[in-house]
Amino acid sequence: MNILILGGGGREHALAWAVLQNPKCDKLIVAPGNAGIAQIADCARLNIEDGGAVVTFAEENAIDFIIVGPEAPLAAGVADRLREAGMLVFGPSAAAARLEASKRFTKEICDAAGAPTAGYRHFTDPDAAKAYIRAQGAPIVVKADGLAAGKGVIVAMDEATALAAVDDMFGGAFGGAGAEVVIEDFMQGEEASFFVLCDGETVLPIGTAQDHKRVGEGDTGLNTGGMGAYSPAPVLTDAVARRALDEIIRPTMAEMTRRGMPYQGVLYAGLMIQDGAPRLVEYNVRFGDPECQALMMRLGAQAMDLMHASAEGRLAEAQVNWSDDHAMTVVLAAKGYPGSYATGSVIGGLDALPETSFAMCFHAGTTRAEGRFLASGGRVLNATARGATLQEARDRAYAMADAVDWPEGFYRRDIGWRALE
Ligand code: GLY
Repeated sequence: MNILILGGGGREHALAWAVLQNPKCDKLIVAPGNAGIAQIADCARLNIEDGGAVVTFAEENAIDFIIVGPEAPLAAGVADRLREAGMLVFGPSAAAARLEASKRFTKEICDAAGAPTAGYRHFTDPDAAKAYIRAQGAPIVVKADGLAAGKGVIVAMDEATALAAVDDMFGGAFGGAGAEVVIEDFMQGEEASFFVLCDGETVLPIGTAQDHKRVGEGDTGLNTGGMGAYSPAPVLTDAVARRALDEIIRPTMAEMTRRGMPYQGVLYAGLMIQDGAPRLVEYNVRFGDPECQALMMRLGAQAMDLMHASAEGRLAEAQVNWSDDHAMTVVLAAKGYPGSYATGSVIGGLDALPETSFAMCFHAGTTRAEGRFLASGGRVLNATARGATLQEARDRAYAMADAVDWPEGFYRRDIGWRALE
């Protein structure tokens, strides 16, 4: 099978690594890819949010199966264009991708499905939003309705922060994404990520993970795209997972089908868990990054069969072969991230890192020039490892991170602290 993966981050490097382990993959192209992906697959320049361009590229390269990594092409309807052209694609339609692309839409679906989530109101007028915040008080959560590259959610522990967030959002800080805001009740508990595959009928759980969104150790400082993750997440016990499936995910999927927009692809449910009861924080219509790196390390070659079964509507007959293992990924980021940071610094030591079925350094923001790897983004590398225990996975991941020679980078030293404590 000739496979095309759209995207160029750590998530897509991990997806490419898993797909290449499957003997059904004859040829793999990743667009745009990155310097790490270029070591294992062909990378192509392509505007991945232009459905017409992706269709033409896939036809010219005799692609049999397309895996869409990030949310932006999905929200832009790239999966729809590919399906209209008769191609097999892993990823939801633009209509179904609104589960991530519109916070208000998700809330309405949850209401209709009876799925537990935070109470909310939505606003198109800043004064009304501020009056609501003053009446409710803090802590409170302010969300830009649309896609904001992971930055559109402000968990405000005081009223002033919430009011400033409203000004920022309506002031255009997130472009069109902030033209409408959703204001939610603050939820207490521990957050974890639950990943399921869907084909419009069947929901198949494929793993749990916990991300570390704050930049600083002890979960302090600014929010980031994620500084490290591990899988499985102990807080998402079998009992909690069952409740999440029965009370949140399956009713959501049924409501989507009822509305004529059956969901196909991976669904990432961010859950808040308190006293064994899960509530939905948000849906994402793609794998989490860096959670995907830990999940792919655990799933390996079967990940491709599972994604293929989702695309072909065969999940009812699919099975996940679980190992009783653990995986961790540690993100190496450029100093200054998530604020401003320099690009172009040289990263050494990468060629000496292990590349095995239980240890890989996935690249995110890297390029290559004159035989050297250069940092080209905020989150740059993902030292990822698997082990019989989380401690073993951690030791292997940190041994890799420590071996990277990159003075301009940094990483948190406490990934997995909740589970290891
Ligand atoms: N790691 C969080 C996300 O992918 O949205």
